[in-house]
Amino acid sequence: MERTFAIIKPDAVERNLAGTILGKIEAAGFRIVGMKKLQLSRAQAEGFYYVHKERPFFNDLCAFMSRSPVVVLCLEKDNAIADWRKLMGATNPENAEPGTLRKEFAKNIEENSVHGSDAPETAAFEIPYFFSGLELN
Ligand code: RTP
Ligand code: MG
Repeated sequence: MERTFAIIKPDAVERNLAGTILGKIEAAGFRIVGMKKLQLSRAQAEGFYYVHKERPFFNDLCAFMSRSPVVVLCLEKDNAIADWRKLMGATNPENAEPGTLRKEFAKNIEENSVHGSDAPETAAFEIPYFFSGLELN
């Protein structure tokens, strides 16, 4: 079993899509081992996305991620990291495969509805950024 970290981003929560996306996550065989709704501060968004701090989209991204609440998740499944990235689809919804969450729900390359860890080291940073051990079960 592998664990990954996911976010239902502000654009999706704002459109009342959290429950629909959670249903698709469970239907795809992921077990929800941690879940909470919260609103990131600007500083918390910057800390989470610090790997992108030199990128031209960093400021917009942090403003977007902190503008309204998100749902943060720890998900468990065999091959969870790759399988969650596959269910999410490509960063730009124009390039996302049919049946992926970003194809169905993303508004554009920035407001793309969901986040997922891209490697085991990333998941190992991202899960404890939001969850204590007692919150994972
Ligand atoms: P994520 O980290 O959110 O799961 O997305 P990702 O791996 O597919 O894409 P990444 O390159 O890590 O970019 C992180 C997030 O930044 C926003 N973005 N905007 N305007 C742009 O060109 C641009 N490029 C990326 C998106 O919200 C993207 O998911
Ligand atoms: Mg990424």
